[in-house]
Amino acid sequence: MKVLGIETSCDETSAAVVEDGVRILSNIVASQVELHQKYGGVVPEVASRRHVELILPTIQSALDEASCKLDDIDLIAVINRPGLIGALIVGVSAAKAIAYATGLPLVGVHHLEAHIYANYLVDPDVQFPFICLIVSGGHSDIVWMTGHGRYESLARTRDDAAGEAFDKVARALGLGYPGGPAIDRLAKEGNPSAIAFPRARVGETLDFSFSGIKTAVVRYAAAHPETPIADVAASFQEAVVDVLVENTFAAAAQKGAERVLISGGVAANSLLQSRARQRGTELGIQVAIPPAKLCTDNAAMAASAGYFAYLRGVRDGPDLDTYATEPLGTR
Ligand code: KG4
Ligand code: ZN
Repeated sequence: MKVLGIETSCDETSAAVVEDGVRILSNIVASQVELHQKYGGVVPEVASRRHVELILPTIQSALDEASCKLDDIDLIAVINRPGLIGALIVGVSAAKAIAYATGLPLVGVHHLEAHIYANYLVDPDVQFPFICLIVSGGHSDIVWMTGHGRYESLARTRDDAAGEAFDKVARALGLGYPGGPAIDRLAKEGNPSAIAFPRARVGETLDFSFSGIKTAVVRYAAAHPETPIADVAASFQEAVVDVLVENTFAAAAQKGAERVLISGGVAANSLLQSRARQRGTELGIQVAIPPAKLCTDNAAMAASAGYFAYLRGVRDGPDLDTYATEPLGTR
């Protein structure tokens, strides 16, 4: 079954063709990073307008690269929640128009579910149950997944998402946008123990809170201009990764999990990857993380999640709507 995936929830216009939810035939990502760089972050209205220009050529490129025509496609899967409404509407409108014109079935996909299913594009035999840490520009969640579409939320962020903290700290340190990759690169030259930034705990929960560390880093950098920025970046990254790994493996211990998956843009972070793998080896827990290009936003992950949703009976129609916020697992 060939699935056309479409993703426009933020600043990437992406279309992909994926076979049986696991084999990528094409995965085109038209990034708008350069467009938003001069503003230091994503400007929603600018993103929407660019999606309008890029969506049809991106879909055509995805079909061409997969050597497909619309006639060869069996299902359309589009991310419809959560995200920037004006951005989501572009992808969802295109998906609905194609579905209407061709008579193909349509499935709306949750963005975080798509991030989780990026793992199926690497290992089609991922076994349930597993713990998944989803860390992106908008979310930091730990979920316990016991079957397709069956989620239990174990933790979320009380304020900023991990990626948001990376982006805000990078901006304050003058490292540009997007901040995650810039901090990841610079931290390799710095001393991660130079500054002991706070590791926030939220009571007895496994929830995250990253706004305090962001403020601490900004204040520290202003008060200590003599400290090399690489040390500040490395110490900040160390503190964030520390909390992400601690809470994820605490969740795994709570559930007796044998498997931990990590996904979302921040999963591309080299320290998070090495720490999580190291901890997994120590504890005898299998750790899976997709390659960087499948961690950040892309439509192949939407096609994969849409395929498995379709198999469990999810169907959408011309009334498919978009949602700025919606928890995972509400349908
Ligand atoms: O999943 P994603 O592409 O978009 C959202 O759904 O938000 O994640 C983007 C986020 C950004 O905040 C970006 O700075 C962060 O992922 N990111 C990273 C790295 N690569 C991307 N954060 C830390 N280290 C990286 N290597
Ligand atoms: Zn994302």
